[in-house]
Order: sequence, then structure tokens, then C-alpha cells
Amino acid sequence: MRHTLYTDRIVIIGAGLGGLYAALALAPRRVVVISPDALGAGASSAWAQGGVAAAMAQTDSPAAHAADTIRVGAGIVDRDVAHRVTSLAREHILNLTALGAPFDRSATGEYVLSREAAHSVARVVRVQGDQAGAAIMAALIEKVRAAPHIQVLERTMAVGLETEAGAVTSVSLQSAAPDRSAPVRLRGRAFLLAGGGSGGLYALTTNPPQICGQVIGMAARAGAQISDAEFVQFHPTAIDVGEDPAPLATEALRGEGALLINACGERFMDGLHPDRELAPRDIVARAVYQQTRDGKRPMLDTRAALGGRLQSLYPAVWQACMRNGLNPVTHPIPVVAAAHYHMGGITTNSEGKASLGNLWVCGEASSTGLHGANRLASNGLLEALVYARICANSIMATHADCPDAPEITLRFGHGGTAPPLDAIRALRHTMTRNVGVLRDHAGLQRALCDIARLETANPHVPEFLNMCATATLIAAGARARCESRGAHERADFAGPPEGRGHRSITTFTAAMAQRDQITKDLT
Ligand code: SIN
Repeated sequence: MRHTLYTDRIVIIGAGLGGLYAALALAPRRVVVISPDALGAGASSAWAQGGVAAAMAQTDSPAAHAADTIRVGAGIVDRDVAHRVTSLAREHILNLTALGAPFDRSATGEYVLSREAAHSVARVVRVQGDQAGAAIMAALIEKVRAAPHIQVLERTMAVGLETEAGAVTSVSLQSAAPDRSAPVRLRGRAFLLAGGGSGGLYALTTNPPQICGQVIGMAARAGAQISDAEFVQFHPTAIDVGEDPAPLATEALRGEGALLINACGERFMDGLHPDRELAPRDIVARAVYQQTRDGKRPMLDTRAALGGRLQSLYPAVWQACMRNGLNPVTHPIPVVAAAHYHMGGITTNSEGKASLGNLWVCGEASSTGLHGANRLASNGLLEALVYARICANSIMATHADCPDAPEITLRFGHGGTAPPLDAIRALRHTMTRNVGVLRDHAGLQRALCDIARLETANPHVPEFLNMCATATLIAAGARARCESRGAHERADFAGPPEGRGHRSITTFTAAMAQRDQITKDLT
């Protein structure tokens, strides 16, 4: 019998930008934040280099930002969501500034704005070049640590949700220590999922290892509706040095004029898109992928655009190069396309509510309709901020009273199962090989069979089942979408399609039915 604890706190699962920003916004409601790592470590937000997209310049407008978001999203962005999010961007930048985020400012106080791909103007609010994620998170962590209404449970993993009558009632928690603990059930007042996306399901990714479809998988297994799962964004300029995860060379470098070349010195974006290096991310990622596949060794050349200034202007990129023996002042940086952001996720409505009762979702785990088939650069942190506040307001409206809930004391006992590392490696391998930048029917069927086999061999490890659930949703969604659209490129369906398309809506049950049928047919 599993040990059960009760709390009147609002339970936030995930401690990235969305989770912490929502926790602060929920004051004075008592909140508990579940963080699989020490606060600030292990969250994708802290690794974000570019920054937050927001129309802060006099010459820019939320309407122009929304238009870019819609255009780049390849026909399936929800226009209302795009207008709503972009019109709230400025307010959240000002709020983050008030919370202590040290955005780069000019001598006259204007926000310094980076140019990133497919934005019609420079629009990305940044910190010291490539330090936005880490600096914003540091500012929020300081506030969270000082907030009496917030309790943080660090090194604690959420591995399952339980429902009664279609509403979430409890979350299953385990110690994140390597050997794991027996699960403890925490019954809470309301639940907000803010636990990131799925990049770690891929062998080649820019995401921290903990960001591997856990949250989407656990919600799907509990019955939540999932949208647009097939749309995974690949970043064109992960640094190709064999590190796992792969370090990122921010798109802002191309905004500064860095060029994409191959081993023959050819600018391979020539002729592929009028904006060349600043074409929409899906187009650049495919070009880089094809260069790699053809053995042409794609590289990012920052020499003329930045030279030695790279060290002070983009310290994270510089350090990644230095620790791998690369000198970007004299040599171009080898790059590869790597899984970076999951545009699909748990379906949410305009209040951030999932299809299950008492469950809200913000950030990369959600699918709000903002990103469509191809996210506009630096709209990810923006969406997390906007929907964190929307979710907090909706939770407070639903749970209007403010009980004085004491802090939770968790004691984990022995009895958990360690994650199956070989199976995780195999899962990541099949995702990169068969559900990556370029997909086809046969490869997607192979991936679904591989996932089924790995899951059958490891039926008692909830965190692995969550990973397999999300992997199944991505592969089944990609198999069902018989077109090439945005980041979803099918070798067997020529793209891009004309005009608007449809968002996909599914459930774990439907994806499993597809997987079961395929494994039956092929074995
Ligand atoms: C980057 O800095 O290139 C990544 C920004 C983003 O993914 O939004």
C-alpha cells in the first residue's frame, strides 16, 4: 500500500521558468514546487541562450510579432493565441525587469534587442548575449527562495498522476536519487504541470537530460488530451562535438551575421531561402541535416561577423568551444541539427486548463496553439511567462480561499526501480534515427515497434513508461500526419503544403491502438 500525504497547497510540477513564475504569481496561496534537481539545475529555461521575444522597440508592434509567429508556424498557429501572447509580451518583460532580470540595456535605457531567424525585426530581449535563461532563472530563484508561500521539494520526481471522476487528485513522487525510492502519493488542492518538453527522448538534443517527455507522458497516461505531438523542433546549430546534450550555438549569432558553410567553403543556404541563414528554423535545420547526411560537414562561421568579440558577447558558446578544443576565432564551429523544443504537448484552453479537471499546464509541456508546426525563435520563454500567469489566475479563481497549509515533510523509503539506462539509450537512438528531422512511413513503424519492445521489457518503471508514452505519441502522430508541414518533414510526402492545415488532437489510448496494430502486423 502506497504511503499517502495530503496537502492544501497548490502542487506545481516542474521548476523552470513557467513553474517558478506561476509560483510567485500565486501568492498568497500556499504552493509546493516539485523540482527533480536542485533549483535552477536541469531546467531547459536555464539553458535558453537567445532570450524572450517581445515587441519592445518603437518601430515594432505586437501585431507584427503575431504576424511573424503565424507565418512561420506553417498554417496551424491559433491566431487568437498568437495575438494574445504577443500583446502581453511587453508587460511580462517589464515585470521580469522588476523582479530583477538584468536585461541588456543601452546607455539611454532601451532594451538591447537581438535578431533571430524569421523575425522581421530585432525583437529578442537578452542578457549578456547568450545568458538570458540562466540570468532570468537566477532572478526568479532568489525571489522564490525568499517567498514564504512557496515550498520547494528539490531532487523529487513526479512520475504519475491519479484521477477521480475525470479530475486529477494526486501525484506520485519518487526521490530523484540514482537508485530511486518507493513512490509516495501526494494528494493536493490543484495541479499545475510546468515540467518542460521532450528533447531528451532524442540521442541528439540540446535539452537537459531530465527534459525527456516525463510530464507530457504522465498526463497522457492519466487520460489528458494531447495536441500536435508530431511537431518537434530541431535546432540547426547544436555544436557537433559529441557532447550529450549537445551545446547550443544560439541563433542570435546568425542574427549578427555568422554564416553557415560546409567543408568545401560553400554557403549552402544560398538558393534555399531568400533570408539564407535567417530563414525559418525548420528550413535551416533541414539544410544542416542534409549537409551532415551527405558528409559535407556543416559549420557556423563566426569569424568575420564576431571574431574575438565572441568571447565576451556570447560566453556560453565560447566556453563550449574552448572545452572542446575549438577556436572559433580561427576556425568555423562544426554544427548538427538536434532536437530542441516540443511544439506539441498537453492540450490547453485559453485559461491554461487541460482536458482533465483540476489540471493546468504551462510552458513547453503544453500545447496552446501558439507555435503551430514551427516555433518562432524565443517565443518559448514568452509563452511560458504568459501562460504561467494565466494558469495562476485561473487556479486562484477556481480555488478562491487561501488555507494556511503547513509545509510537507516527505520521507522516501526504499523500493523504487532505477531507470533502465540501456533501454533509454535504445529509445533515444530510435527516436533520432526514425523520428528525427526527416521521417517516412517505414521508419516511423520501426520506431513504434522499438518503443513497444523496450516498454514491454521494462514494465515497472513509471518514469520510463512516461518516456515511452511521449515517444509513442510523437511517432504515432508523425505516422498519421501524411504531409510535410513545418518541422514535420516526410520523405514520402513532398512539402510544403499550401495554406492552412489542421492541428492534431489525440489521446494516449488512440496512439497505443495505432502502435499495437503496427506491432501486430509487423511481428
Ligand atoms: C537560440 O538561442 O538559438 C534558441 C532560442 C530558442 O530556441 O527560442
